Amino acid sequence: MSACQYIVFACLLLIFYLTQPTVGLTCYVCARCNDPFNASATNVIKQTVPDNQGYFCNKVNLLGYVVRNVTQNCTERDILGNGVWCCQKDLCNDAKNIVTASVLVMALVLGFVIILW
Ligand SMILES: *[C@@H]1O[C@H](CO)[C@@H](O)[C@H](O)[C@H]1NC(C)=O
Ligand SMILES: *[C@@H]1O[C@H](CO)[C@@H](O)[C@H](O)[C@H]1NC(C)=O
Ligand SMILES: *[C@@H]1O[C@H](CO)[C@@H](O)[C@H](O)[C@H]1NC(C)=O
Repeated sequence: MSACQYIVFACLLLIFYLTQPTVGLTCYVCARCNDPFNASATNVIKQTVPDNQGYFCNKVNLLGYVVRNVTQNCTERDILGNGVWCCQKDLCNDAKNIVTASVLVMALVLGFVIILW
């Protein structure tokens, strides 16, 4: 990709991210979740909370015991694959390691810098 194409692509991605519909946040909620995740498992529910109240979808993994939930004031931790992951997009707490928006932005900026180098 040329630098120009990259910039356009990065901007589109950012715009897409920033303009996600904001009618509540939906998260998976389950205790003793399957990991890898199985959204159709009977112990999984979806819960929707209002926007702009500091809610995060989270995933907590403690030695293979996985809980997914919705929380406020989520703090991320990662200790050798155990920890807490937070994210704020609908149903984003399904994957193992959640890629947060800040990581995405950082990756875009880094790619940008490398291309301009
Ligand atoms: C999710 O969090 C709420 C509030 O902290 C708690 O009451 C609930 O038991 C949790 N659900 C699961 C599945 O851990
Ligand atoms: C997911 O859970 C559903 C319902 O329990 C089951 O029928 C299905 O086989 C599971 N899928 C996987 C990949 O484990
Ligand atoms: C989350 O943080 C805000 C601002 O620091 C605070 O007002 C609120 O009480 C906190 N909520 C919870 C559930 O800890």
